[in-house]
Amino acid sequence: MKKFLCIALAVVLTLSMVAAFAACSKDDSKETTTAATEATTTEKETLVMATNAEFPPYEFHQGDKIVGIDAEIAQAIADKLGMELKIEDVQFDSIIPGVQAKKYDMGMAGMTVTDERKESVDFSTSYAKGVQVIIVKEGSDIKSKDDLKGKKIGVQTSTTGDIYASGDFGEENITKFDNGAMATQALVAGKVDCVVIDNEPAKNYVKANAGLKILETSYIEEEYAICFNKENPELTKKVNTALEELIADGTVKTIIDKYIKAD
Ligand code: ARG
Repeated sequence: MKKFLCIALAVVLTLSMVAAFAACSKDDSKETTTAATEATTTEKETLVMATNAEFPPYEFHQGDKIVGIDAEIAQAIADKLGMELKIEDVQFDSIIPGVQAKKYDMGMAGMTVTDERKESVDFSTSYAKGVQVIIVKEGSDIKSKDDLKGKKIGVQTSTTGDIYASGDFGEENITKFDNGAMATQALVAGKVDCVVIDNEPAKNYVKANAGLKILETSYIEEEYAICFNKENPELTKKVNTALEELIADGTVKTIIDKYIKAD
C-alpha cells in the first residue's frame, strides 16, 4: 500500500512538473513571439547605397568605417526617412549596373550626371559641383588640356575623366586604374604623364604625394547626384525630397564645408 502511494505521488509530481514546464515554455514562446513582433515593427527598412570608397573627401575608409560627404548626406537622408543606411563598397563601374539590377537602392559616389548615364538610371537633384582637373608632375610641359595630345593619360576606369579623355585623346593614350590613388601612383612612378580626375580627390592625392600639382585650367565642370533604378520612382521621390530638404535647410552645405575647407 505504501509502495502504491509512493508511485502515485511520484506520478502526480511528474505530471505536475510536466504541466508546469509546458506552461512555462508556452509562456516563453508567447514572450518570444511578442518580442519578434516588436522587432519587426521597430526594425527599420534598409536603404542600400553603393559607393566606391576610394574618393576622398566624398567617400573613403577611416578604420573599418566608410566616411565622407556622401556617407554623411546619405545618413542624414536615411535618418529623415526613418531608414537604416547600409553602405556597400564596390568598384565604381559596378555601381550603375548594380542599381539597374536592384542589388542596391541607390548609387552615391561623387557621381556625375551625364546624358548617357541618364539612359540607364534616374538622378536626384544635384547636391554638389565637381570639376575634372589635370594632375601633372611639377615642371611638366603640360600646361593645359591643349597639351594632352599624344600624352599618356591616367584615369579611374569608367569615370567621366576616363570617358572625356578617351573621347578627346583616343583610348590608346589612356591608362585605366581601379582608383584615383593608383592612377596618381603611376604618375609619381612616371608611367603616365598626367591624371584626369575630380578636383577634390585630386587635392587629396597631390597633398599625399610630393612633386605633383594640379593645373589651374580645368578640364570640364560637372554636377554630382544620386542615381536610382528607373523602375523605382517612389523611392527616388522619397530620397530626393529628403535630399532637397537637407539642401534647403543648410545640412548639405554644413557637411560639405566640414570636409572641404575653403582654400
Ligand atoms: N565624378 C566622376 C564620375 O562620376 C568620378 C566619380 C568617382 N567616384 C568614386 N567614388 N570613385 O564619373
